[in-house]
Amino acid sequence: MDKVRLGVIGLGRLGRKHAENIRYRIPNAELRAVCSIVQQELDSVSAEMDPKRVTKSYREVLESEDLDGIVIASSSPQHAAMICEAARIGRKNVYTEKPIGMSMEEIQKIKAAVDANAGMKLQVGYNRRFDKSLRCAKKEIDRGFIGRPIQVRMINRDPASMAEFIIKFSPTSGGLVMDMLTHDFDCARWLIGSEAKSVYGLGGVFVYEGLKAVGDIDNCSVLTEFENGVIGQIETSRNCSYGYHVETEVYGSKGCIRVGTTPVKDRVTYMNADGVVVKCADWFFEYWEPTFLEEMQDFCNCIIEDRQPSVGLEDGYRAVEWACAATEAVKNRRIVQLGA
Ligand SMILES: NC(=O)c1ccc[n+]([C@@H]2O[C@H](COP(=O)([O-])OP(=O)(O)OC[C@H]3O[C@@H](n4cnc5c(N)ncnc54)[C@H](O)[C@@H]3O)[C@@H](O)[C@H]2O)c1
Repeated sequence: MDKVRLGVIGLGRLGRKHAENIRYRIPNAELRAVCSIVQQELDSVSAEMDPKRVTKSYREVLESEDLDGIVIASSSPQHAAMICEAARIGRKNVYTEKPIGMSMEEIQKIKAAVDANAGMKLQVGYNRRFDKSLRCAKKEIDRGFIGRPIQVRMINRDPASMAEFIIKFSPTSGGLVMDMLTHDFDCARWLIGSEAKSVYGLGGVFVYEGLKAVGDIDNCSVLTEFENGVIGQIETSRNCSYGYHVETEVYGSKGCIRVGTTPVKDRVTYMNADGVVVKCADWFFEYWEPTFLEEMQDFCNCIIEDRQPSVGLEDGYRAVEWACAATEAVKNRRIVQLGA
């Protein structure tokens, strides 16, 4: 296979980014089909990237026989049904944005559909797994640099400058824990190599009163006990006043590894009579830019080399299982056992 022929479903923030990477930056891929229910997005991608097929029907993409793989980047509530349908049709290569589903019922349906489609590759968009610094941290943790891991601490703050968008996006996002913290949870379980046993959380609406009407919150903190005894502290905010801030720390018996201690925008330092300043990252695209390309390149390589993706079905459902428990813990202020 010379080039992997891909169809992208959803052309919003993420779908467009994936389409651009496939079209311009991945030599062994071809952007053959695109789909969105928003006409303006279709027109713009079609004019700029010239894919062969442009449609409002995601079924048309799933059923296209001239595609080697499908990229699902629609809104979160659509993922489960699209994954299940792709599996039923017999599609073998599917990449999906996170979360794979929004409830344990959806997870059960996805597991059954994927199991019934032998050899299916389902890659899940936990892009942090492709970050160079986090990969380096993971290698050192596995090598024993910090000794026995004791605590994993994560910070995930969206900028206040995106407030208007965040409020608009909230109703289809699955809520703060499902939307934001599944990234952190996936990263934490990958770094320490263990699954969550129980969760407790606190959170609420501190800034965006409008979120109450859609049952969402803007800040929360979740405490997790992992099966191997590690303690996880994960916090998130939608109203970070200074920019976009993601930080990860794993603390152990012999040391500690931190990634992203200062959320810097670039390597520029500004100095004048007032002092020294480094600018803060503005938004997730800027901060994680290389990872979106890396993950899509890896998806193409998995198809060509006929191997399973490194971030697959189990990673997808573990994060959702944890998010369902954490959402309940925050909502009802109680400790929730996973798998109970
Ligand atoms: N990995 C990350 O860092 C990251 C960051 C942001 C968003 N996401 C995920 O990406 C997904 C998309 O988010 P977004 O911000 O791009 O959303 P968006 O609202 O900008 O775009 C959603 C897209 O889905 C399409 N869509 C919705 N229903 C459809 C249907 N039935 N058929 C075809 N197309 C349909 C819309 O036309 C639109 O193009 C979400 O699931 C989100 O969780 C991931």
